[in-house]
Amino acid sequence: MSKQNPTRIIIDTDPGVDDSMAILFAFCSPEVQIEGLTTIFGNGGGDITTLNALRLVELAGRPDVPVAQGAESPLQRKFEGFGWRVHGRNGLGEVDFPLPTVKPDPRRAAQFIVDTVMANPGEITLVPLGPLTNIALAVMLEPKIAENVKEVVLMGGAANAKGNASAVAEANIHNDPEAAKIVFEAPWKVTMVGLDVTRMTVMTPEYMEELKSAGNRYTDFICKIVPHYMAFYLEYDNLVGFHVHDSSALAYVIDPTLFTTKKLYVQVETNSPSHSGMTAADWRHRGNGEPNIHVCVDVDNARFLELYKQRLMGAFK
Ligand code: BDR
Ligand code: CA
Repeated sequence: MSKQNPTRIIIDTDPGVDDSMAILFAFCSPEVQIEGLTTIFGNGGGDITTLNALRLVELAGRPDVPVAQGAESPLQRKFEGFGWRVHGRNGLGEVDFPLPTVKPDPRRAAQFIVDTVMANPGEITLVPLGPLTNIALAVMLEPKIAENVKEVVLMGGAANAKGNASAVAEANIHNDPEAAKIVFEAPWKVTMVGLDVTRMTVMTPEYMEELKSAGNRYTDFICKIVPHYMAFYLEYDNLVGFHVHDSSALAYVIDPTLFTTKKLYVQVETNSPSHSGMTAADWRHRGNGEPNIHVCVDVDNARFLELYKQRLMGAFK
């Protein structure tokens, strides 16, 4: 699929192994044009995720893509995430990389989002791949962005699936439920690419071997950072291979026909200590609210894996 006018996106991200894989997927897909990366705490602290985002624009040879650093902690809570265990203490699978030479944009992430959206009404799709704090701050700073954004496509939540950060909550929502509630309730189109679909896709060691054989600078980078992440899945999920959560959200933006969606009323739980961050979806259509979220419920997983491979292996050809 190739479009004449690429979808203009801001990726809000906490790189992160799967975030990095998603960002490189975006860089080599002509259907999307990255207007900026905004960074957020999550898989590491804000300084770590910002350094990694800068490394990624440098790796892509795109120092012109602004990187704006965002929130260091959730809106109201103390941050207690354990993403570093999944992604390594440096967010990149504990592999040492040189410090980037590119410098961050002087604006904070929320300001960058507001400026970019308001300068390009109806044009920008927000793609959050981490806790939703920056997006909530942006909509609080300028509520008009809600009517000026094209769409929000986020990786997060679990509508009909077990959680990964708790029994019922997905990590990005769990890491800042109050922010997620603001984002889910703002008057814009939200598509939720949650664990319901991201768990359907597994990249196996064999798949990674094939990717590695391309030997380009993207596949080399990915194959260096993945082993730590893959080892986590084996230890905690008994899975040989891993889920590429964040690339699933990019796949939706690149080719939405890969997914089946259902519009449901989804509420983010903020009060219950045991259920905090749960995305409670009303599958009965009999609750108190109108359907507000486009929930991805199925993915053509073989076609997605093929697309990812084709894009990454074909980069620089
Ligand atoms: C999400 O949590 C993070 O660890 C990943 O980067 C992804 O965004 C999956 O629940
Ligand atoms: Ca992420």
